[in-house]
Amino acid sequence: MTTHEQGQAKRSHADWLLFVVGFVLFSALGFWGTPALLYAEKPQPFQFSHKVHMEQVSEGCKSCHSFREDGSFTGIPSMDKCKECHSDSPQGDTPEEKIFVEQYLNKNKPVDWRVYAKQPPCVFFSHAAHTENAGLDCAKCHGDHGKSESLRPYQYNRLTGYSRDIWGWNILGLGGPPKRMKMDSCADCHRENGVRDACFVCHK
Ligand code: HEC
Ligand code: HEC
Ligand code: HEC
Ligand code: HEC
Ligand code: HEC
Repeated sequence: MTTHEQGQAKRSHADWLLFVVGFVLFSALGFWGTPALLYAEKPQPFQFSHKVHMEQVSEGCKSCHSFREDGSFTGIPSMDKCKECHSDSPQGDTPEEKIFVEQYLNKNKPVDWRVYAKQPPCVFFSHAAHTENAGLDCAKCHGDHGKSESLRPYQYNRLTGYSRDIWGWNILGLGGPPKRMKMDSCADCHRENGVRDACFVCHK
């Protein structure tokens, strides 16, 4: 081997090492850095405990999340529902209840809850089809939200403005607190259940 050839071999080793180090660094940046850059956080107006409230109601989830006569889903209950119990006297002595009563209930100001599962406006979704017709459990799509004691931070994508729960909290789609609810997630379950898969089923 000439000295020239030895020099080249050394250089290519150095290049290779640089490439590997660079690759690992950028992958790590992509994996942990991108979510931090891509998502921003909005606080919920105040904490709300499903666990505490499930002990107070008589008809379970349906006490607050039910269907109207026309089959549409009521979604998050309005202030009228809260007033059934939170009216004259305090129900407990938590600071969260104080915020709710003083800043919302007494001022008759609707609570601007951030909806984790919120889909883009172009997506059509009906709860009746899933929970009434198909008999799916709430937890199948929402995880353990109905048992939660506090609300995790709401995060949204800075570019699209959509909730982080759509793409999921984990790049690989594994674990994480909620399940992801991308177009594929809907379509996978539809395929398993033989539901029509034309675009207009979910996009009106
Ligand atoms: C069936 C009666 C009932 C209804 C309906 C009800 N609450 Fe409550 N709520 C309670 C009771 C009782 C407590 C006190 C529990 C304690 O502190 O031990 C409470 C506590 C709270 C608290 C403090 C504890 C926590 O959850 O973090 C908040 C905030 C609250 N309620 C908000 C609401 C809102 C908002 C609504 C309407 C969507 C609502 N409540 C509807 C009975 C009710
Ligand atoms: C006392 C009324 C009350 C009862 C009973 C209740 N919820 Fe809720 N639910 C709420 C309120 C208020 C919110 C908005 C705050 C939040 O996200 O927790 C909500 C939000 C939700 C959400 C929306 C999550 C999102 O994507 O933002 C789900 C899912 C949910 N509830 C499931 C359930 C299930 C399942 C049960 C029964 C185990 C249940 N709830 C019982 C009041 C209630
Ligand atoms: C097949 C999946 C699926 C099942 C099962 C399901 N949900 Fe949902 N839920 C969604 C999706 C998707 C959204 C967002 C819909 C949208 O933005 O148009 C949502 C939104 C909600 C919201 C927020 C609505 C609002 O005001 O914006 C509540 C509350 C809720 N679901 C409660 C429940 C409860 C309670 C059950 C069980 C009775 C249930 N869900 C079962 C997928 C599901
Ligand atoms: C865990 C399974 C599951 C998931 C997840 C799911 N679906 Fe469904 N969906 C079903 C089943 C089963 C039916 C058929 C219900 C029936 O018999 O009416 C259905 C029906 C529908 C219908 C009515 C179809 C028709 O032919 O009228 C629409 C619209 C729909 N789903 C949209 C969605 C969207 C949007 C998502 C994702 C955000 C979603 N679904 C996620 C199981 C699922
Ligand atoms: C099973 C329900 C379902 C079917 C069928 C479906 N989509 Fe979607 N689509 C969704 C959901 C849910 C989203 C939002 C979540 C996401 O971006 O993955 C979405 C998002 C999209 C978006 C991005 C919109 C935005 O604002 O970011 C486009 C474009 C789209 N779909 C086109 C199509 C086309 C074209 C077809 C037919 C080949 C189709 N979809 C079939 C559920 C569906």
